[in-house]
Amino acid sequence: MFNLILFGPPGSGKGTQSTNLIQTYGLQHLSTGDLLRDEISRETNLGLEAKKFMDAGQLVPDAVVIGMIGSKLDEHPNARGFIFDGFPRTTAQAEALDNLLALKKTNISVLLSLEVPEEELKQRLVLRGEVSGRSDDNEEVIQKRIAEYKAKTEPVANYYEAQGKLERIKGVGTVEEIFGLLRNQVEKFILPQE
Ligand code: AP5
Repeated sequence: MFNLILFGPPGSGKGTQSTNLIQTYGLQHLSTGDLLRDEISRETNLGLEAKKFMDAGQLVPDAVVIGMIGSKLDEHPNARGFIFDGFPRTTAQAEALDNLLALKKTNISVLLSLEVPEEELKQRLVLRGEVSGRSDDNEEVIQKRIAEYKAKTEPVANYYEAQGKLERIKGVGTVEEIFGLLRNQVEKFILPQE
């Protein structure tokens, strides 16, 4: 199995590039943000609890997201591999993911980190906020999401760097240019699906 973490701050292009990667390589997409928004739209208890954190620009507690990912992995036993988008976001989540994958006799192949300057992130998210309807795409919450990323999520890159799995990717340019850089890395492991 090929298991990729697509990593980077809010607005760095994880969702956009995941779409391209899934289509090209036939991988299963696991976005904790999408899973949480789905819980919110269905007004589940989990969703209602998570919404409080998301609207404040804070991370949802580890136990909640780790539980969600565990059950999603089980839903796709024959997947060619997974793209983890927006997960893991803390070192505790990274350790839990490594353990879950080890139980399935697999592991993370590589973490591709999209590197984008903070000003560009804010511009992209404010612009998206005009049309997305996402309650966390406003200037005040965007700032908090970026601060949360720096404090709690950046250490995840160090965790995988220690395993020799971190690759930094320039995340500024056209979507196609950045996809080309990602492809160069992915094709060290797998080829496009026929
Ligand atoms: P989540 O949904 O994961 O959001 P995020 O990480 O804040 O990321 P975004 O979706 O905002 O950005 P992205 O990097 O995917 O960029 P995108 O491609 O969309 O998380 C939301 C919240 O859920 C968190 O704050 C937290 O509360 C909670 N949560 C989620 N996972 C969690 C976890 N594991 N643990 C705890 N809490 C969790 O692009 C952004 C915009 O830029 C788009 O408009 C796009 O069109 C544009 N764009 C993309 N590429 C380019 C480019 N090359 N040039 C110009 N514009 C571009």
